[in-house]
Amino acid sequence: MDGNGRWATARGRPRTSGHVVGARVVRTIVESAENAGIGALTLYAFSADNWKRPTREVSMLMRLFRRYLLSEMDRCVQNGVRMRIIGRRDRIPAELRRTAETAEETTRGGTRLDLRIALDYSARDAMVMAAERAGGRALTRDSFVRLMNEVTHAGPVRDVDLLIRTGGEQRLSDFLLWECAYAELYFTDVMWPEFSPADLLAAVREFHARDRRYGGVQESVAAAG
Ligand code: IPE
Ligand code: MG
Repeated sequence: MDGNGRWATARGRPRTSGHVVGARVVRTIVESAENAGIGALTLYAFSADNWKRPTREVSMLMRLFRRYLLSEMDRCVQNGVRMRIIGRRDRIPAELRRTAETAEETTRGGTRLDLRIALDYSARDAMVMAAERAGGRALTRDSFVRLMNEVTHAGPVRDVDLLIRTGGEQRLSDFLLWECAYAELYFTDVMWPEFSPADLLAAVREFHARDRRYGGVQESVAAAG
């Protein structure tokens, strides 16, 4: 979800007003994901590096996250959406932490869409914390993923199929680095406040047109020897 600040600045408005519009877009995109049969959606809301931003913007974002969780909880229950907040929990405001826990508890029965919101998240920190937790035990890919999911509170996580980044930048910015090993990357110049259900469907369509070989060769090529 990138581009809120630039979108607002380009309109002569404070960056925070871009975040307010961006939060509304989250609702419509989550709804479209439900309807498009997407089983899991992870939104990058706040990275561990976003603490570097001005205090006023950070505290406004924390209040906005809490307001979003409070306003969406019931709708998520009705629509079978299970919410999880992934990332560290020891640095976010206590009120937000409590609301996040309530949202997770309230929506835990949801099976239609796994909605993960990455808050104070860093993929590299998650890997280091998982390795620390292993404490020298032998690791497999599966056991390492389980440890990472423990430290980020993510629950069972599959590999990412499609990563969409809005806002014109073409980088991963420490998001789900392990899970994106074979993700299809999709970059769009559309700023998050203008990202629409049609944009989401365009990305999904493009994803289906990609040839995913996971290091192998196309079946027809393999058959031809
Ligand atoms: C939203 O966009 C992402 C959040 C951290 C909430 P940005 O705030 O990164 O907007 P730009 O990149 O400055 O335009
Ligand atoms: Mg940005």
